[in-house]
Parts: sequence; structure tokens; C-alpha cells
Amino acid sequence: MKFKALTAIAALLAAPMAIAGGADDDTLIINDEIEMITKTAAPAHLDGALDELISGWHFRTDNTQEMEMDDFDNPGMLFVEQAMDTWETAEGSEGKSCADCHGDVEESMKGVKAVYPKWNDGAEEVRTLQMQMNDCRVSRMGAEAWKYDAGKAIAMEALISVQSRGMPVNVAIDGPAQAMWEQGKEMYYTRTGQLELSCANCHEDNYGNYIRADHLSQGQINGFPAYRLKNAKLNGVHSRFKGCVRDTRAETYKPGSADFVALELYVTSRGNGLSVEGPSVRN
Ligand code: HEC
Ligand code: HEC
Repeated sequence: MKFKALTAIAALLAAPMAIAGGADDDTLIINDEIEMITKTAAPAHLDGALDELISGWHFRTDNTQEMEMDDFDNPGMLFVEQAMDTWETAEGSEGKSCADCHGDVEESMKGVKAVYPKWNDGAEEVRTLQMQMNDCRVSRMGAEAWKYDAGKAIAMEALISVQSRGMPVNVAIDGPAQAMWEQGKEMYYTRTGQLELSCANCHEDNYGNYIRADHLSQGQINGFPAYRLKNAKLNGVHSRFKGCVRDTRAETYKPGSADFVALELYVTSRGNGLSVEGPSVRN
């Protein structure tokens, strides 16, 4: 097993580049104002796995990095503006908007993104932000649930994320969330697909190396939603996971599925201490 994974990785990794990989030493300050923690000591639960957490921003080219440094250059911010309109728009049988209950998004949603996914006592489940938003839509507005990781849902997630930019990610992994966290951890380290590769084989053992033409990062999700130049839209965490699982030639899960919620909780916790960065810009 182990040998097979190593051969698969060896075949995928590009020949060493003239300039070795690794993360760069640039500093991320957005709008000359918001200082981002893009490198920090790993939380205790990663002892023996990672020493330092590094945002995916450090593994991108200068051009891509620059797009994230100013909101006017960040195409993800266009979706944030659209979501501002959605926030104010009444919908559903109750004739209510998000703003009717929550007021100013700047006030009410500050710090929220940093602690999601989060256990919800009433529902006795771990909820992602999108699950929570859809619960408000269905049970409080009498409106239809938004499609997961798409259109209005991902734009609203970006708007809510902006209210926490710069704050450290800090999801709870103990108490009632622990069982789901353990499930996510198990998924992270399980080799899958014809290539028999786990998330860790690429994002823990080989970050800084090039895989095909791509500079491998730690696969952190503090920057999500991520505007990808590749598909010119905001991408959700689950859609990103789906692409990576498919790349190992394994059967993948659906965005919004309980399995991906567990994986999101675990992967978010691997970034506890990095700044909330979404919407980020990636290739
Ligand atoms: C009728 C009132 C109402 C409307 C309309 C409403 N919400 Fe909520 N929302 C609530 C309540 C009440 C809670 C707390 C629910 C809980 O803890 O179970 C909440 C919780 C949330 C949270 C979690 C906050 C946290 O600190 O964990 C988010 C995010 C959220 N709503 C987003 C939205 C969005 C986006 C919309 C519009 C699409 C919306 N809500 C519409 C009443 C509303
Ligand atoms: C075969 C190697 C490989 C495997 C296995 C793999 N990924 Fe990736 N992943 C990549 C590459 C290549 C990229 C694009 C470059 C980058 O951001 O690291 C990427 C990107 C990502 C990103 C985006 C990071 C950012 O900053 O935008 C996330 C999140 C991610 N992967 C999570 C996962 C998870 C979770 C798993 C396991 C289910 C996984 N990956 C498995 C190769 C892999």
C-alpha cells in the first residue's frame, strides 16, 4: 500500500524545478489595511503532522497574489456586491429579507465565518455556513433552499466571510462536534481511488513541490470561497474537495453531503490560527 502510494506520487511530481518550491516570504495586506496571518504555528492537534500552517496564497504566482491584495482587483468581490443586494431582498412566504432579522451584515456577521462549521444545539448537527443560511431560508423565510456551492449561496458565503477577514480561524473540534471531526480526520488520511492517495499524501507530505504544473499547497480552506481564474467564478470548499477526490480517480461525494461536512470541519481545523481570507484568488 505504502509503496504504491509513493510510486503514484513520484510519477505525478514534476522533475525538480531549477528554483526549489516551498512557500514564498511575501506579506498579505489587503487594501493596504487588513493584515493577514498567512503563516503561523500549527495547533496542538497537528503535533507530528505539521509544524507551520501556510495559507495557499503563498504558493501562487505574484500576479495571482496581487489580485487578492486589493478589492478592486479581486473578481470575487463582484459576487460579494451582488450578495449585498440579496441580503436586503425579501423572499419567500414570510416576506422577509436577511436584513429584516439580522440587520447590518457588517455588524451581525462579524466573526461568524471564523467559527464555522459549528455545532448547532437545536438541530443537534454540525452546520456549515451554507447549511445555516438555507435553514434560515427554509424555516424562517419560507423560501427555497439555495443550491449548494452555487450562485447565490456561494456569493452570500463570501459576503459573510468578508466580515471576518483578518480574524483567526477558530473552529471548535471538541464537545459535540468531536465525532464528526474524527470522521473528517479519518477521511483526510485514507488513501482512495486508483492512485491510492490520501489528502495528506499531497497536502501534508508534498506541499511546496510541483505536481504536474501546479504548485502544491497545504490545501488550507481559510481562503474560501475562492475565486479561481480557471473557471472564473467563486468556488466552494466542497466543490474543491470534489475535484481533488476525482483527481485520485475515486468515487466522490456530493457538495453538501454529510461526508463533506465532516471533511470541511476537519480541514478547517487544520487552519485554526490562519486568517479568514475569503474570497481569495487562486488559479
Ligand atoms: C425570520 C428571521 C431570520 C431571517 C429572515 C434570516 N435569519 Fe439567519 N438566523 C435567524 C436566527 C433566529 C438565527 C439563530 C438560529 C440558531 O442558532 O439556530 C439565525 C442564524 C443565522 C446565521 C448563523 C449566525 C451565527 O452566529 O452562527 C447565519 C450565518 C444566518 N442566520 C444567515 C442568514 C442569511 C444569509 C439570511 C438570508 C438569506 C438569513 N439568515 C435570514 C433568523 C433569521
Ligand atoms: C494528487 C494530489 C492531491 C490529492 C490527493 C489531493 N489534492 Fe487537493 N490539491 C491538489 C493540487 C495540485 C491543488 C492545486 C494547488 C494547491 O492549491 O495546492 C489542490 C488544491 C486543493 C485545495 C485548494 C487550496 C487553496 O488554497 O485554494 C484544497 C482545499 C484541497 N486541495 C483539499 C484537498 C483535500 C481535502 C483532499 C483529500 C480529499 C485533497 N485535496 C487531495 C492536489 C491534490
